[in-house]
Amino acid sequence: MEGSVLELENVTKIFSRGYFKKRYVIALENIDLKINKQDRWAIIGESGMGKTTLARIACLLETPTYGRIKWFGRDISILSKKELSDLRTKVQYVHQDPYASLHPSRNIYSTLADPLRKNNSIRGKGIEKRINELLNLVGLTPPSYFLNKYPHHLSGGGRQRLAIAKALTVNPEILVADEPISMIDMSLRAIIIQILKILNKELGLSIILVLHDIGAARFFASDGGKIAILYGGRIVEKGESDEIINNPLHPYTQTLISATPISDPDLAQRKKLPELKSYEPPKRELGQRLCPFSHACLYSQDICFVENPVLQKINDKHEVACFFWNKIPKWTPPWSMQ
Ligand SMILES: Nc1ncnc2c1ncn2[C@@H]1O[C@H](COP(=O)(O)OP(=O)(O)OP(=O)(O)O)[C@@H](O)[C@H]1O
Ligand SMILES: [Mg+2]
Repeated sequence: MEGSVLELENVTKIFSRGYFKKRYVIALENIDLKINKQDRWAIIGESGMGKTTLARIACLLETPTYGRIKWFGRDISILSKKELSDLRTKVQYVHQDPYASLHPSRNIYSTLADPLRKNNSIRGKGIEKRINELLNLVGLTPPSYFLNKYPHHLSGGGRQRLAIAKALTVNPEILVADEPISMIDMSLRAIIIQILKILNKELGLSIILVLHDIGAARFFASDGGKIAILYGGRIVEKGESDEIINNPLHPYTQTLISATPISDPDLAQRKKLPELKSYEPPKRELGQRLCPFSHACLYSQDICFVENPVLQKINDKHEVACFFWNKIPKWTPPWSMQ
């Protein structure tokens, strides 16, 4: 099937806090994102930049304040309840904390068997066969060893594998995983990312992976994936991973890459640490026009404080939202240094 499977059009989310004196938080602003069948997207940004809000809105777990969401080319606001509930299983959310989707008193067999029975016509031996396939797919092997275990018997990485297997019981077409590696050991993170990559490449699932680490995103999205960088609730740069990673044009993307630890000691020595005017998170009022990175950016000029930079197409693989992307000094990421 050609075309988009999930689309956010001009999506804005404003949270309000406080009862008497209302405070507003612009969590997302004017987000345009088009996910095609079999796409592999990494959404990257630091804490508070709007990643979870974007992931939850994409899965309809949160309603946008403005904007439109399309699933499989259809505007969700005009779908009937029945049409929407039929589509719901096709878009699955994988939580940061795998316990959020696992019942502590259900063993692995029933964790997977119950949704399999509910959402498929398979029964009896077919259920066992499918459970074996799913456990093999996520690397909980040999499956027979795990069937009678409970979530608390597994490591954090094992629980996340189980949460992914559970999401797969309903045969989704899209997985949205919100920082699934942030609560597990460093050594196991690459394996979870690898599993998501296999689900994308071999089973053809579209995957949206939310991460704060651009190094992990580089691993996930390399070789055909895409990247969107979020700052202050806006996408400041997006496009094909290899292009963005090797030729980042937004000063924030460059800062994020400079802050990433690298394993090569020679490169690490030569790498420049990020320099910013301010390390404060972005603040702005409702309706205020500005670049969300202007207060921190070394290159900001007057216009950056009074006008919204919109995403401009640099080439077919690359969009950036910066007034001065072609005037700031050329910057080479450490991994592209000779
Ligand atoms: N339910 C809510 N009510 C009020 N404000 C909220 C709510 N959810 C998120 N926010 C605010 O919206 C902004 C974006 O939050 P979000 O959780 O999407 O960020 P994030 O990028 O996922 O951060 P983290 O890396 O810490 O998970 C933050 O300022 C946050 O405090
Ligand atoms: Mg989050």
